[in-house]
Amino acid sequence: MPNIVILISGAGSNMAAIVQACEKERWGERFGARVAAVISNRPDAQGLEFAQERGIAAEAVDHKAFDSREDFDAALAKAIDRHEPALLVLAGFMRILTPGFVKRYEGRMVNIHPSLLPAFAGLNTHQRALDAGCKVAGVTVHRVTDDLDHGPILAQAVMPILRGDTAQALAARALSQEHILYPKAIRELLEAL
Ligand code: GAR
Repeated sequence: MPNIVILISGAGSNMAAIVQACEKERWGERFGARVAAVISNRPDAQGLEFAQERGIAAEAVDHKAFDSREDFDAALAKAIDRHEPALLVLAGFMRILTPGFVKRYEGRMVNIHPSLLPAFAGLNTHQRALDAGCKVAGVTVHRVTDDLDHGPILAQAVMPILRGDTAQALAARALSQEHILYPKAIRELLEAL
């Protein structure tokens, strides 16, 4: 059974979109897949509550409790591996991963980033797109490699930047694109397993 484990840090709206797509599109019946666990590096992440309500294993591995990135990643990997994931999905997971962690999940870890990669990796993507005078913005689903917010691109959605757009307005429109794009990209990965 292809288990999906989702990592979050906050609201978890992408995670919720994936869980809902899994239910609505019957990924269980079609691919034998299920969202086995949602894990956050922040104990107060709102997304954990959503997962719990759906009967999904929800857990926090608080990065603040560890002295080094290596120690945190080792504890995180332990929590993840209990669910034997075929796919590890980063959904607003805002931690830089160690090379060892990336290697461990090589080929089965994906991320979503709110820009048209390779442009605007990192933070404040929408403001940076506005400052650069971009005419379009977008979102990218990609495989995770050692290169932060890069790695082979699986899917992208493009949207126009409108006159008078603010970073906040752009982020909100990008998020609704993400909620369509990410579940679709994951479904395609499941189809190919
Ligand atoms: C999303 O916009 C996602 O693309 C972004 O964080 C937000 C999380 O929202 N991720 C990154 O910036 C990763 N570099 P969510 O918690 O509501 O899914």
